[in-house]
Amino acid sequence: MIKKIIFKIISKKRIEFLRSNPFFTNGKFRDKIVDIQKYININDKSIGNEPETSVLLSRKFAHIIDKGLHRRDVQAGHSKSIELALNKNLNCINSNNYLKDESIIWAEEKHKLYLNLQESKSIEELAENPENPEINFDSFLKFIKNRRSNRQFTSDLVSDEILLKLAETINWAASSCNKQPNKIFITNNPNLASECLKQCKGGTGFSREIPCFVSFCVDMRGYYLPHEMYLPHIDASLGAQNFYLALQTFNLSGTSLSWALKDDKEERKLRELLNIPDYYQIIFNSVIGYASKNYITPSRKSINSSISIIK
Ligand SMILES: Cc1cc2nc3c(=O)[nH]c(=O)nc-3n(C[C@H](O)[C@H](O)[C@H](O)COP(=O)(O)O)c2cc1C
Repeated sequence: MIKKIIFKIISKKRIEFLRSNPFFTNGKFRDKIVDIQKYININDKSIGNEPETSVLLSRKFAHIIDKGLHRRDVQAGHSKSIELALNKNLNCINSNNYLKDESIIWAEEKHKLYLNLQESKSIEELAENPENPEINFDSFLKFIKNRRSNRQFTSDLVSDEILLKLAETINWAASSCNKQPNKIFITNNPNLASECLKQCKGGTGFSREIPCFVSFCVDMRGYYLPHEMYLPHIDASLGAQNFYLALQTFNLSGTSLSWALKDDKEERKLRELLNIPDYYQIIFNSVIGYASKNYITPSRKSINSSISIIK
C-alpha cells in the first residue's frame, strides 16, 4: 500500500531496488543498477549450489589462507571462518564430481597445509626463488610502445592454435582474490566476426576483413555484489593487456571496442552470436587480425604528468 502511494507520487521509473532496498535514481544510472541486480540475483541462486561458483570461491578462500601461510609470524588458530568457507566450496566441487584443474588442486593443497598447521603448530617457511628476467627494461618498453590499435586487416585467418596460446596469457594476469574469473569468447570465423562488430557502437573505421572478434568477459558468480561491482573491469583489463602484448609475438594486433554504450538489443545479440551465458559480464570487445597497415603511433603525454612521487 505504502509502495503504491509512493509510486503514484513519484514516477515508478525513478525508484529502484538494490538488494531489496528502495532508492531514487535517474534514468542514466537505472540501466547500470538493473544490470548489477541481475548478477546479484544469479549469485544468490548459484552460491552453494553450483560447482562452477565453488571453483571461483575455492580459489578465493585458498588465496586468503595462502597469504596467511606465507607470513613469517604464521601461527595456528587463525582464519577458521575462511577455512570453513574453503572446505564447503571444495566439498561442493567433490560431491558434484566436478573436473578439478591445477588451480583447484592448488587450493586443496593449501587447505591441507592449513589443517597440518593446526595440528602440528608449525610449518616450513613458504617461499620460492624468483627467476632472473630474460628481457631488460629498454627492450620491454620498446615492445610495449610497438603495440598498436590497428583497424585494417588482411584476409589471413587466425588459427585456433594461436588463440589457445593467447588465452593462457590471460590466466597469468593478477586477479582479484585470485578468482581467475576471466574468459574470452572468440570467433575466428570472419563472417561471424563482422556480425559481432556490428553490435559495437565504436566499430567505425575498420576494414571489410574482420578476421577475429573477441569478447572479454568475467564470470560474475564469484563477486560480492554490489560492493565489488568495479572489480570485474579491473580483472578483465589486466588479462586483456597480457593478451594484447602477446598478440605482437605472432605479428597480430587488435583494437579494443568499448561496450559502455551498448543497449539491450546489442547485448542480447552479441550474447547470442558468441554463446555468452548470463552469468558472464561482457566488459569490452576487440577485433584482432594481421594488420594490412600499421596505424601511425599516437604520441603520449609527458612522463611527468603521469606520476607524482611523494617523499
Ligand atoms: C576501453 C577502450 C575502449 C576503446 N574503444 C574503442 C572503440 O570503440 N573504437 C575504436 O576504434 N578504438 C577503441 N579503442 C582504442 C583506442 O582508440 C586506442 O587504444 C587509442 O587511440 C591509442 O592508440 P594505440 O592503442 O594504438 O596506442 C578503445 C581503447 C580502450 C582501452
